[in-house]
Amino acid sequence: MTQETLMNALADEVERGRIKTIGVSNYSADEMRQAHQILARRNIPLAVNQVRYSLLSRQIESQGILATAQELGITLLAYSPLAQGLLTGKYTTANPPQPDGARRFDPRFSAQGLAKIRPLLDQLQHLAEKYSKTPAQISLNWLLAQGNVIPIPGAKNANQARQNAGAMGWSLAPDDVNLLSDLSRPWLS
Ligand SMILES: NC(=O)c1ccc[n+]([C@@H]2O[C@H](COP(=O)([O-])OP(=O)(O)OC[C@H]3O[C@@H](n4cnc5c(N)ncnc54)[C@H](OP(=O)(O)O)[C@@H]3O)[C@@H](O)[C@H]2O)c1
Repeated sequence: MTQETLMNALADEVERGRIKTIGVSNYSADEMRQAHQILARRNIPLAVNQVRYSLLSRQIESQGILATAQELGITLLAYSPLAQGLLTGKYTTANPPQPDGARRFDPRFSAQGLAKIRPLLDQLQHLAEKYSKTPAQISLNWLLAQGNVIPIPGAKNANQARQNAGAMGWSLAPDDVNLLSDLSRPWLS
């Protein structure tokens, strides 16, 4: 199905009142711009693009997706915003994930991968103490500070959901946002 056909079919549904807004996922900057232009002819906004985005996955910045979304007024829903739990700080070389889970195939959870993120996790812990928050909340708040970004963290239980909701309603100081941006530069590519 072409982008033209898909967006026009979705626009028809908005006009029929069967859906309220239109969102896409994993669209590149070009795909997002194209979808936005097709919908603009029908006076319908492209509301969201759901993309992988966290302190440990910043490719959407280097690929121009964040800038294009800001230019076009499209909200980015950041999926895997805690890097599957890595940014909570609970997985370390001393406390690796369960060896029977899917994470054992992800190099970021290997001993080497966990050692590489140590400086970032140490800074998250430091900021967590400074703001009386958790490293997960600091990581999610950094995403909120990017502007048109809404993180959608996963939660395995009510405590995690409650903790993640506590990432809202306050803001990291700009200097601390910049500090985390600097430390996570290796994950821009
Ligand atoms: N559009 C797409 O292509 C796409 C792709 C992937 C995901 N998604 C969506 O994105 C959402 C989240 O993705 P994700 O599960 O990969 O995200 P994530 O938020 O990076 O990781 C979630 C995992 O981290 C741990 N966790 C979460 N909150 C925690 C807390 N406060 N304290 C300690 N541990 C915590 C939990 O696992 P443990 O307790 O086991 O550590 C949880 O399952 C989901 O809705 C998913 O459907 C979309």
